[in-house]
Amino acid sequence: MYKKDDMISASHSPKFITKYNRNIYHLFNRYKIAPESNKNLNEICAKEEINVDLLTDLINCYNDLDFLKKIKFENYRIPVLVDYLEKSHKYYLEKRIPELEQSLLKLTHQESFTFNYVIINFFKEYKKDIVSHFKTEDEILFPFCKVLYNYLQYKSQEDLIFILENQKKAFALMEHHKQNKDEIDDLQKVLLKYSPNNKKLSYFEIFLNQMSIFQQDLKIHAEIEENVLMKKTTIILNSLEIKNV
Ligand SMILES: [Fe+2]
Ligand SMILES: [Fe+2]
Repeated sequence: MYKKDDMISASHSPKFITKYNRNIYHLFNRYKIAPESNKNLNEICAKEEINVDLLTDLINCYNDLDFLKKIKFENYRIPVLVDYLEKSHKYYLEKRIPELEQSLLKLTHQESFTFNYVIINFFKEYKKDIVSHFKTEDEILFPFCKVLYNYLQYKSQEDLIFILENQKKAFALMEHHKQNKDEIDDLQKVLLKYSPNNKKLSYFEIFLNQMSIFQQDLKIHAEIEENVLMKKTTIILNSLEIKNV
């Protein structure tokens, strides 16, 4: 019998893993892995050219947030990490946010007008912030990290010019990211603790449950961005001694 403390390994299949924790289909979805597949992760990832170690580490974090502290994500190369972060943004925008909006739409048929007004406005603001947050990372931070990694490998003049021209913007964004994270932490803490206790859920409870799973995902995401990607980027910049040029 599988116990909660056991770790998922690359010899497990998506079918086994999603049966054990069905929320992990969110992770498989963004890598376009069929959650019902009986093949093991090693086999699937080799064929699709997915980094199986990173995927397995992410699955274990998803299963138990405590793993976030134990796993050394800094051992992964920048392009592999950025690929995960970019795929996740796309998935949040195309799947998770629309799903939350669907639940809110259903909610409007069930709850009182005042309540709907408050929650719908809250989500509108939340969505606006998060969409612009993803956009700046996709347009500024991720390209910067990838060019920096390339520069380290090939030392091309073109990449160096890009780094010099964009490092101020990238630094400002990394600084802002930390402050922003402190602000959303309180909401996240409350939502992470939420777990519905009835079998028959209202649309509001469904919405809260979806938000809770989403926050867990975002917590892992932000941890990799800040404590791994941004740290790695800063270390490289310092080692190149072009930080203050
Ligand atoms: Fe992000
Ligand atoms: Fe972020």
